[in-house]
Amino acid sequence: MSPPQVTVVGGGMITHDQILPSLYHMQRRGRIGEISICALTARPLKELAESELFARAFPGQSFRPYPELSGDLDRPRPELYGEVVARMPPRQIVVVAVPDQLHFEVIMTALDAGQHLLSVKPLVLTARESLIVEQEARARGLLVGIEYHKRFDDRSLMARSRYRAGLFGELRLGTACLLEKWHYRHSNFQNWCTVENSDAFTYVGCHYVDLVQFITGLLPVAVSVYGVRDRYPNGNEGFLWTDARVIWNNGACLNVQNALGFPDAAPGTNTQGLTLYCAGGDCGALISHSDQYRGLKYCYTRSSGEPGATVYAEPSPDYLQYVDLGGPGLVPVGYGYRSIEHILEAALRLEAETRDLAERQERLRQIDEAGIMATPANSRYNELVIEAARLSILNAGREAVIEYGEKPGVRLREWGR
Ligand SMILES: NC(=O)c1ccc[n+]([C@@H]2O[C@H](COP(=O)([O-])OP(=O)(O)OC[C@H]3O[C@@H](n4cnc5c(N)ncnc54)[C@H](O)[C@@H]3O)[C@@H](O)[C@H]2O)c1
Repeated sequence: MSPPQVTVVGGGMITHDQILPSLYHMQRRGRIGEISICALTARPLKELAESELFARAFPGQSFRPYPELSGDLDRPRPELYGEVVARMPPRQIVVVAVPDQLHFEVIMTALDAGQHLLSVKPLVLTARESLIVEQEARARGLLVGIEYHKRFDDRSLMARSRYRAGLFGELRLGTACLLEKWHYRHSNFQNWCTVENSDAFTYVGCHYVDLVQFITGLLPVAVSVYGVRDRYPNGNEGFLWTDARVIWNNGACLNVQNALGFPDAAPGTNTQGLTLYCAGGDCGALISHSDQYRGLKYCYTRSSGEPGATVYAEPSPDYLQYVDLGGPGLVPVGYGYRSIEHILEAALRLEAETRDLAERQERLRQIDEAGIMATPANSRYNELVIEAARLSILNAGREAVIEYGEKPGVRLREWGR
């Protein structure tokens, strides 16, 4: 069987930082075949194609750009990805890396063309859409893996297995934070991450909600989010500082603080971490992860000049780094790579080890049940938390209740109920 083609839809930050280096490495290892990337215009594809880092790390490797680089670099071609995906033979792989509000449309187009999918988070913006994706993928025997890469940080897997072995008792109170650096306000965020569309919790807080579920197996049942309105450099208004309270189905409470506001002069690319206070028997228990400071202290002779780069730095060796293992090129390492590899390898095994639709559906059921890879069926709480958070933040932080069952949904809590 020849290795599958991979088409990435979206050629922005996450494609540059994580997806393309991971795909290039898998291609070098012979696990995947030709790589195509579709973007709205050719301009970001030109930057990816001409990247000095990729030339050094993956010498001789390239991707097919859509739109092509020879035409007008700024002409938008929003429909082109649909043609590219429809031309792929079925049962290849599509990677979804477009802005959140476009995920559903791209996912349904790819499923309709019979393709397996890796989607960046969030899968979609509503529980209703995630149900549609789940049903369509299951009927066709196709994999949909959602890329919550913090799950593949070894510390998350350690905490999960120890929590589930009963070593921590049960979560009672937790606190988590993820604050991106101030300079994010100057990026494309100012054009879309505005009060009507999103907020700091919806954009980055979801990672820690997913992680707490991943570790503990508990389900979020109510969310309230207070947001501070602030202005971007272009004058647009965003909820750039948020404080969220998530209540879980055992009564536990998690506080999550998020912002685009961590000082550029502070070390590290952001600040983030998780502390869970637990109880079991007649004693307390504790899980505490510093996810930004991982023990490395570097003081350079000068700053690289990149936004947010500092002379004194505390780099994370764990998300995605390029290391020299003797060549050719450089090897991407870290949980950013492992997360992409895990989902793509699952699609490869699904194709190699099953003979018919019934076997594929059984394999997909096992993946849902194992709960390591996020799928539409096993992580719908993420869409529900997003829906609840948006409802709450637009209602001055009133609590929104999540309802599971046949028709999952959210509503504002009435007093006394
Ligand atoms: N930690 C994480 O898991 C993480 C981090 C960053 C981004 N993301 C997610 O990744 C997605 C993309 O974010 P980003 O920061 O890369 O955004 P970005 O704005 O940098 O890039 C978006 C890309 O989508 C392309 N695009 C838009 N419309 C298109 C269309 N119709 N057809 C083809 N391409 C189209 C644009 O050309 C651009 O290349 C978002 O859903 C975001 O939430 C996840």
